[in-house]
Amino acid sequence: MHASFPALRLRRTRVAEWSRRLHRETVLTPANLIWPLFIAEGEGVEEPIASLPGVSRWSVDGIVARAKEARDLGIPCVALFPNTPSALRTADGREALNPDNLMCRAIRAIKQAVPEVGILTDVALDPYTAHGHDGLVDDAGYVLNDATVEVLVGQSLNQAAAGADIIAPSDMMDGRIGTIRDALEAAGHINVQIMAYAAKYASAFYGPFRDAVGSRGLLKGDKKTYQMDHANADEALREVAMDLAEGADSVMVKPGLPYLDIIRQVKDAFGVPVFAYQVSGEYAMIEAAAAAGAGDRDALVLETLTAFRRAGCSGVLTYHAAHAARLLGA
Ligand code: PBG
Repeated sequence: MHASFPALRLRRTRVAEWSRRLHRETVLTPANLIWPLFIAEGEGVEEPIASLPGVSRWSVDGIVARAKEARDLGIPCVALFPNTPSALRTADGREALNPDNLMCRAIRAIKQAVPEVGILTDVALDPYTAHGHDGLVDDAGYVLNDATVEVLVGQSLNQAAAGADIIAPSDMMDGRIGTIRDALEAAGHINVQIMAYAAKYASAFYGPFRDAVGSRGLLKGDKKTYQMDHANADEALREVAMDLAEGADSVMVKPGLPYLDIIRQVKDAFGVPVFAYQVSGEYAMIEAAAAAGAGDRDALVLETLTAFRRAGCSGVLTYHAAHAARLLGA
């Protein structure tokens, strides 16, 4: 036995719930949650997503209802993703620039009905392209960087004009944060934030999301020429440094749980607001585990979300947001 025993007993503070609460190092509250929502065309529409059990696409009226639910639960922000009708998907993704596209209609409706809820909008072309890539492709299928950035600027301005509060580029093109920032400033959107999907990995965990936005069947090849290799960490810090230098207000690491080490490194190295995206495949994994009786759903949800806080996150994008907020007693 070590000399410090029995004077030192780490179990002492764990002996009762009041003491465990008193010694808890991190807290999770509804204020730490961002709720991703999928938008469908139509009215009164709810379309369940089979690979994302418990999550549906909602038409704009339903999206507004979800935003009200978020407000009532103390969730500060929702993230919007459109399932663009296939007839509007083109090689150049031009529907992203339409001021009356699904995304802009949802933004305006939320802003009118629930102005106190923040709106984060994804910037990337994959919900709008016929090939499912986040940008413009050349004849060989390579995603063109600089030409794509130009379109992303237009997409960002379109979303900001509709009322988006946080522009969140998820495309992983080089140089897009600074270019978008300059354009937002020039257009007078000085208080529109940018949350950069800074360290976004080419991941096997995005499958159900691609079902949700209707790009899974369309996607040609993979996204490895622009999203990061899952073996890399130093490169994630370079991505974050670059996006911060270009004016990002906050950064995101994505996916979430398999990349807690990256979150911690980013937080320690930069001391900036870091967010994680607990992505669709992670959500599906938790739901599958719970459905199989391999774990208690509520406990899995709270443990994983708290882990993000412990790793250094200011907040988490999670499909469990409303459920978690209820569990937290909102
Ligand atoms: C698209 C985008 C993706 C996600 C968020 N924005 C998918 C992808 O990059 O293919 C994934 C989110 C999730 O899986 O929940 N740019």
